[in-house]
Amino acid sequence: MGSIKIAPSILSADFSRLRDEIQAVEKAGADWIHVDVMDGHYVPNITIGPVVVEWVRKVTRLPLDVHLMITDPDQFAPEFIKAGADWVSIHPETCKDPHASLKKIRALGAKASVAVNPDVPLDKIEAYLPDTDMLLMMTVFPGFAGQAFIEDVLSKIERVRKVVERRKLPVLIEADGGIKADNIGRVIRAGAEVIVSGSGIFKTPNYADTIRRMRQVMEGK
Ligand code: DX5
Ligand code: ZN
Repeated sequence: MGSIKIAPSILSADFSRLRDEIQAVEKAGADWIHVDVMDGHYVPNITIGPVVVEWVRKVTRLPLDVHLMITDPDQFAPEFIKAGADWVSIHPETCKDPHASLKKIRALGAKASVAVNPDVPLDKIEAYLPDTDMLLMMTVFPGFAGQAFIEDVLSKIERVRKVVERRKLPVLIEADGGIKADNIGRVIRAGAEVIVSGSGIFKTPNYADTIRRMRQVMEGK
């Protein structure tokens, strides 16, 4: 397993100061920026479109990790990649042919990721592993920031880590939802290596202190 990456989700940032917020987490030690895209159809919330990603791209050098929670990722993934997305996660239940969607994302030059909802069993996603660069394991149901972490997903993360290692696949495991300094240790020990945290970072007073604390916990200090 490589080094652990921390990806603050800007959904919990102050959007009136989005550039400052992104640069503040970058300075505080963030590795990636997680962008939650919701269309009001796949989930009952509306957030960010390609226009915002285009502006975000101009204010940070960190990889942009775009999580599409929309009913038509095939239509919009190309626009997000053009706007600067480095990683694109799709929920396979929103695609007519998830294999084709993943291949298209890769062909357009981005890394392709499969998002796995808490109630989706692993046998439903194993077939996508050869076409994916990452699995985004949802530790809440998609739709909103600030929800409670679903403990049951930890054992699924452990199992998926074993599958990836057994099959020697170059697939990262990301965890997303309800992760804060007080539970990040368990998520890492289960096998996640990219950690999304929205309110766990942006709703704390000092981002550098919070990210430092997260790294200490990860190192078992
Ligand atoms: C949930 C989103 C998450 C969420 C994370 O639908 O995919 O990325 O914004 O926010 P927290 O860390 O506050 O749960
Ligand atoms: Zn997300």
